[in-house]
Amino acid sequence: MIVVLAIMVEAQKQEGFISLDCGFPIEESPYSDPSNGLTYTSDSAFIQTGKSGRVDKDLNKRFSKPYLTLRYFPEGKRNCYSLNIKRGTNYLISVSFLYGNYDGLNAFPNFDLYFGPNKWARIDMEGRQNGTNEEIIHKAKSNSLDICLVRTGATFPVISAIEIRPLRNNTYVTQSGSLRLSFRDYCSNSAGHIR
Ligand SMILES: *[C@@H]1O[C@H](CO)[C@@H](O)[C@H](O)[C@H]1NC(C)=O
Repeated sequence: MIVVLAIMVEAQKQEGFISLDCGFPIEESPYSDPSNGLTYTSDSAFIQTGKSGRVDKDLNKRFSKPYLTLRYFPEGKRNCYSLNIKRGTNYLISVSFLYGNYDGLNAFPNFDLYFGPNKWARIDMEGRQNGTNEEIIHKAKSNSLDICLVRTGATFPVISAIEIRPLRNNTYVTQSGSLRLSFRDYCSNSAGHIR
């Protein structure tokens, strides 16, 4: 008796996803992140300024691939990404920052993050060995979106990843404005991570 078991694994649909690995070389892009199967591309088509850095090798095992390279901004006060999105669509927009001592100076950066003309958050990475992250849910008012990093002191702004996901229109509806993530809790005894 022969039993043939066919297991079909449906590839994760990524329609409308924008997954940028900041500072990642364009020649090696895109790639599929082995930890979750998502396709990441280099950020270099979306910004003209900044330089590429790589976190300390000791962190290679602790963080997944998109967070191992970063873009830093030694020049200019304000540096912006310009992204193409779809007007009227509700998006989850997540930006991640991991300093990882890329410059060997052991000086955690601090700077401001802007969403178009509006201040989104102050990013103070002091003591944030595991990096930090900001998220917003925003209904696009036009077909483009600017995300800007603004230098405020001696340290250079850095950014590791930008991840944008279209949501259903009825997810987190607001009367006006956008929603900034306050905190997220995973109410489970499971030790695993979810996305
Ligand atoms: C960073 O993550 C590691 C492993 O999850 C944890 O042990 C450590 O306490 C974290 N460090 C900080 C500063 O949060």
